[in-house]
Amino acid sequence: MNGKDRLIIALDFPKMEDAVKLVEKLENEATFYKVGLELFLNSNGEIIKYLKDNNKKIFLDLKFHDIPNTTSMAAIFAAKKDVFMFNVHATGGKKMMTKVVEEVRKINNSSLLIAVTILTSFSEEEIKETFKTKASIQELAMNLATLSKESGMNGIVCSPWEANLIKENLGDDFKTVCPGVRPLWAATNDQQRIMTPKNAIINGCDFLVVGRPITKNEDPKKAVKLIIKEIEEGLILKIN
Ligand code: C5P
Repeated sequence: MNGKDRLIIALDFPKMEDAVKLVEKLENEATFYKVGLELFLNSNGEIIKYLKDNNKKIFLDLKFHDIPNTTSMAAIFAAKKDVFMFNVHATGGKKMMTKVVEEVRKINNSSLLIAVTILTSFSEEEIKETFKTKASIQELAMNLATLSKESGMNGIVCSPWEANLIKENLGDDFKTVCPGVRPLWAATNDQQRIMTPKNAIINGCDFLVVGRPITKNEDPKKAVKLIIKEIEEGLILKIN
């Protein structure tokens, strides 16, 4: 796997035309793009067709969360769009995730099924207030990651700081999709626990999700090249 195949660019734009402009500017430098709720809804889903027509691979970040039947129906439609990966909330439970895996595998074998554990916007206090639990965020996240794996999901979204722990506990095949990545030359923005692309790879991240260091950069193509170079340095260090 080369560096380019590890980088997922977050298309966090409200307007499809702005997303298209970036994809065009990057030409063949990048292959993987993340589409979230804002862009998906605002483009009436058309961004998916555009990216596919241009041979790009898609992480459909819609974070499904509903009862098993409803979620698996939505999952079937995501899989039919032939996206590279999409996600569901692990808090939907093991029954829901198992049903998603079963239904999607019946029709499509290639989309990676990724679980979201605890949203990073939660603080320890808010977790206690919301779930009436004494468990820490890390304990809850690890439990949800384990349930995801047991349900047959392919991986989780996690911080680069947790990727190693996930790999140690759940195996190297269980994919880690990591936002919170910042090269040293980029602004941290609102991300709290960041890691450089090189260190993120060394620490066990399979896919790096990077937005603003590329999308807000005056030279996005150069930013992508620098990030891929760092990823490749990390891959070499990891192998040796
Ligand atoms: O601009 P930036 O690189 O911070 O973008 C990171 C992307 O990853 C955004 O689309 C953000 O919503 C997403 N994300 C995140 N933290 C999570 C889950 C997703 O930053 N825990």
